[in-house]
Amino acid sequence: MQTLRTIAEIRAWSASEHAAGRRIVFVPTMGALHEGHLSLIDLARTKGDRVVLSIFVNATQFGPNEDFEKYPRREEEDSALCEARGVDLIFAPAHGELYPEGHSVFVVEEALAKTMCGISRPVHFRGVCTIVLKLFNIVSPDVAIFGQKDAQQVAVIRRMVRDLDLLVEIVAAPTLRDPDGLAMSSRNAYLSTAQREEALAISKALFRAREMVESGVVNIDRLQAEIIHILSQKRRLRVIYVALVDRDSLEVLRDIVPGRSLFAVAVWCDQVRLIDNIVL
Ligand code: PAF
Repeated sequence: MQTLRTIAEIRAWSASEHAAGRRIVFVPTMGALHEGHLSLIDLARTKGDRVVLSIFVNATQFGPNEDFEKYPRREEEDSALCEARGVDLIFAPAHGELYPEGHSVFVVEEALAKTMCGISRPVHFRGVCTIVLKLFNIVSPDVAIFGQKDAQQVAVIRRMVRDLDLLVEIVAAPTLRDPDGLAMSSRNAYLSTAQREEALAISKALFRAREMVESGVVNIDRLQAEIIHILSQKRRLRVIYVALVDRDSLEVLRDIVPGRSLFAVAVWCDQVRLIDNIVL
C-alpha cells in the first residue's frame, strides 16, 4: 500500500490503472477510521480492482464555530488499518494541495442541502460537494462508497453526480452500529461515558419508531412525537430535528413509503452534534 500526497502523483497512478483496464473504487474519508469505515473498504473491494481511500479533514465543510481544529487526526493508525484491510492506495494531501492560495470556486447544491442539517450548518454541504467533486476529478474513480449514516450527504452527492453528469457510480453502505445500537461515527470519540450512555437514546428512539410502524402505526405525528419523547428524557440531549423524508429527494413525507421513508435525527449531546437515521 502506498500513500500519495500530490494531485499529480495520484492522477498518474489512476491513469495507469485505467489504462490497464482496472476499475478504481474510492472511499473518501476525513480519517479517524472506525469499523464503519472499514466496512466501506470491505464493500469497496467487492466493487472493483483497486481501492483508494482519501484522508483529508476538509476545512470548508466546517462552520466557524464547529470542530475543525479538534477533529481527530490519526494518520498513522489509519494507515495501519487500511493496510490490514487491503486498501491499495491512500491519498492524504495537505490543505494547500487541494485549496491553493486564492481558491474561490465552490459547488453549491441548491435544494437538498438547505434542509435538515443544512439549516443549522449552512456551509456544510457546499464544502462537502466542493471537496467531493475535486476528489472525483483527481482520483477519477469508477465507483465511490459513502456511509448511509450520513444519509443527507449521500442524497446531496447523488444529486450532484446526476446534475453535473459525473461518470461515477455512488454506492451507499449500511450504517454500522456498536452492539448497544449507537451508530459508529468518528465524533463518538468526543463522548464521555455518561454522554455515550445518553446518546444511546437516539438509536433507541429510531428503533422504537420502526417497531411502531411494524405494528401498524402510520400516523407520522405520533411517530415523531414518540421519538422526541424518548430523546427528551435524556437531560444532555437537545433535539435539532426529527424528520421523515424521502431518502432521495429529502422531501418531507406525510405517509410511510416502504423502502423510501427515511427517519433522520440530529441532536446535541451536550456540545457534541450527533446524527442517525433509519429507512422504514
Ligand atoms: O463523510 C465524510 O467523511 C466527509 O464529509 C467526506 C465525504 C469525506 C468529505 O470531506
